[in-house]
Parts: sequence; C-alpha cells; structure tokens
Amino acid sequence: MRNRDLPRTYRVKSFGCQMNVYDGERMAELLAAKGIAAAPEGEEADLVVLNTCHIREKAAEKVYSDIGRLVKAGKEAGRKPMIAVAGCVAQAEGEEIMARAPAVGMVVGPQAYHRLPEMIARAARGERATDTEMPADAKFAALPARGLGGRKSAPTTFLTVQEGCDKFCTYCVVPYTRGSEISRPYRDLLIEAEKLIEAGAREITLLGQNVNAWSGEDGKGRPVGLDSLIRALAELPGLHRVRYTTSHPNDVTDGLIAAHAEVDKLMPYLHLPVQSGSDRVLKAMNRSHSAESYLKLLDRFRAARPDIALSGDFIVGFPGETGTEFEETLQLVDAVGYAQAFSFNYSPRPGTPAATMDGQVPPDVMYERLQRLQAAINRDQLAFNAASVGKRCKVLVERKGKHPGQWLGKSPWLQSVFFEGEASIGDLVEVELAEAGPNSLAGRLVETALA
Ligand code: 5AD
Ligand code: SF4
Repeated sequence: MRNRDLPRTYRVKSFGCQMNVYDGERMAELLAAKGIAAAPEGEEADLVVLNTCHIREKAAEKVYSDIGRLVKAGKEAGRKPMIAVAGCVAQAEGEEIMARAPAVGMVVGPQAYHRLPEMIARAARGERATDTEMPADAKFAALPARGLGGRKSAPTTFLTVQEGCDKFCTYCVVPYTRGSEISRPYRDLLIEAEKLIEAGAREITLLGQNVNAWSGEDGKGRPVGLDSLIRALAELPGLHRVRYTTSHPNDVTDGLIAAHAEVDKLMPYLHLPVQSGSDRVLKAMNRSHSAESYLKLLDRFRAARPDIALSGDFIVGFPGETGTEFEETLQLVDAVGYAQAFSFNYSPRPGTPAATMDGQVPPDVMYERLQRLQAAINRDQLAFNAASVGKRCKVLVERKGKHPGQWLGKSPWLQSVFFEGEASIGDLVEVELAEAGPNSLAGRLVETALA
C-alpha cells in the first residue's frame, strides 16, 4: 500500500447484535475524539469501518461484497477509501480477509478496537495491520471516557456491562470471537450511565452475551450481581427505564427475580433464549438446562412479576433434530405464550463442534420447520398485543413516525406503539392502546409528558 493522508471523515457500519451497535458507537466516539468527523449522509467517507457479525451464515460473504461495493464507489469518485474490518468476522477470519481483500487496510477484533487510531496512523504510512487481541478488559480501560463529545444520546441506549461467553453451546461461535466472560467494574458502569443520562438517555439496556453472569463489587467492596447493578441504576435521577439482555437460564439468581418484583424502573420484559424444546437436542447443544427447568424458571419470574413479557431465541434444524423433537419445540412455544421470539435456521459455524456432527438437516426440512415455528410465534405475538387493546400504558417516545404528527415509542413490554399528538423525543407519555398487529400497536395519546 502507498502512503496516504490521514482520514478526515469516517463511517461506521454495524451489523448483527446490539453489542455491535454499542461497539460501533464507541468506535465513532473514539474516531471523533481523534478529530475525524462523521461523514455527512450520502457522502463517501475517507475511512469506513465494517463492524461485522459472524453469528450465522453468509456474514463473511456479505463483508466481501461490501468491500467490493466500497472499492467500486471509491473508483467512481476517483478515490480509495481506507477500509477497516471490525467485529466478529474480523476476529474469526482476519487472516483470510487480509489475503483475499487487498483493499482492506485494517482488521480489528471486537476486543481490540481501542487501538484503531494507531492502526489508522499505520495505514496512512502504507502498512496493513491486524489486531485480534483478547480479552476485553484492556479495551474498556483504554477507551476515552464516555463524554459523547457533546453529542446527544438517543432516549433509549445500550450499555455493555459484560462480554464474552464461557458456555460453549456447540453451535455457537461467540466464545471464540468474543472470548471468555468478563464483567466491567460497577463504578465504571455507574459513571458511564450518568454520562448517558446527561446526554439525554432515558432508558438504558444493559448488554452482555450472558448479561446475568455479570458480577462485581459495589461501592463498599461487597460482591454483587446484576440485580444490585440494576437497583443502583434505578436510583439515578433522570433515568426512567432499565432493561437487560441477553440472559442465560443457568445464571438466573433469586436476586434477579426479586428485582422484577421490587424495582419499578426495571421493565417487565425478559429475553431468555431456550433454543429448543427437546431435552435430547438441548443436551447435544450443551445447553445444560432442560425444557422443564426452563419452564419452571419462567414460572418464578411470572410469580414475581405477573405481567412480565417473555421473549426467547430458537434454532431449528440443529444436527440430528427429528420431526418429533421439533414438535417438542412447538409444544414449548405453546406452553410459554411468548410476547416476542426470534427463530433461526441452524447455520454450521466453522470451528464449532456442531458443524461436524452427523445428521445435518436438509435445507428444505429446516425451512419448513422454521415456517411452522414462526407462524406459532406470530400467533402468540399477535395474541399478546391484542390483549393490550383497551388498556393504557406508558410509552417512551423514540422517534417520529412516517405520517405527519405521528410518533413511535415503546411500551414497558417492548411493544412498538404508534400514536399521534403533542410529544417530543424522550418524553414518557400515556397512550390508550386501540389496535394491535403482530409487531406493533396503535393508540391514542391520553397524557403528555409524564416525566
Ligand atoms: N445457527 C443458528 N442460530 C444461531 N444462534 C447462535 N448461533 C447460531 C447458529 N450457529 C442464535 C441463537 C442465539 C442467537 C443470538 O443466535 O438462537 O440465541
Ligand atoms: Fe453462544 Fe451459548 Fe454463549 Fe449464548 S450462551 S453466546 S448461544 S455459547
């Protein structure tokens, strides 16, 4: 590569999970702190960061097609953008990317992006650089303090409290791309939350691959879990709502369940992936819980917070899954009545144990199962939303809707609610719910700006 100027503008494109969205924001702040400005909408940037996802298929292919598109757009504009590949594909396939895509100047893993500025300086000197160091502790310590550089925060924002995973589900690439479980310190998290609130955040979602495995020491040096962190955040003035995602059934504590009964600001919503309703499949997945123990756990959450909305993730077509085992998943869905759930075809991930297991399920069988599962989930989502019609609920306003005078916000149960009337982004208003669809509700504004 030839020597070149330092970039003046950047664009970060994040794919995949909410943790990537959070990382993307931190990268943007880091670049801004180094005097690189966000590229205006519709303009090519000098530096493009592709913050990639590797959880399911075709993610890597997507990266190569994005790189191709950037090179082509650059050629048409008579320039060569500096390209950095970040995120989980960078971690898993960094060397291949460097070998296959000469236009890429930097490959940076999810635990190493605090070193982007040095890598950019090297790229400007014509050196290509790869950094896929782990674990994440160093990253959080090295990132600039979260001042948001005078930028406003969206009313709903994310805060990564825990990263990595030690569970090694046999289908999953996360333990390899994000590394082992680490928890960020309690004090740092409270400071970051205060900064986010100062910048306009009204709802904070605590993030972690296994967020409920978070552990730390409180201000008095006592060992504490996620429930204590939630309680401390709920004390912060200006913050209306706290959420957390994603949880693992084996890390649920009595304290977390009790927090749902006792902390008003903790929203009545639980995302607790189960993946399958078959105990044989769960064992082959190395999930270390059964369908029954999962259902019992949900009963305990429901006892603490009867109106809690339940959400989950499912994989269909795991190697060896029989038709009968798939039926057990449908039975579990019927038993739970999810307010929301996410379902995916099994995707073999290179390097994971399941990728080489016998009994890979043919795509057409997998597709047919996914259709049936999604129909069942949609039915339950619609039923959950329909049951809210006629009720009033608080809505945190997130943005304008498509129609003039229309707003979009979220109910406590994470339903999208459309309404019309006097409101501003960040307001907490009261809406009477009038119409339900599988993915949203429409209502009438009854009280403006409650807080
Ligand atoms: N194939 C399909 N889905 C997967 N997930 C994780 N790994 C795979 C895979 N190899 C799903 C799980 C997880 C969610 C984030 O992605 O359901 O909970
Ligand atoms: Fe992946 Fe399982 Fe860890 Fe979730 S708990 S990130 S599915 S290995």
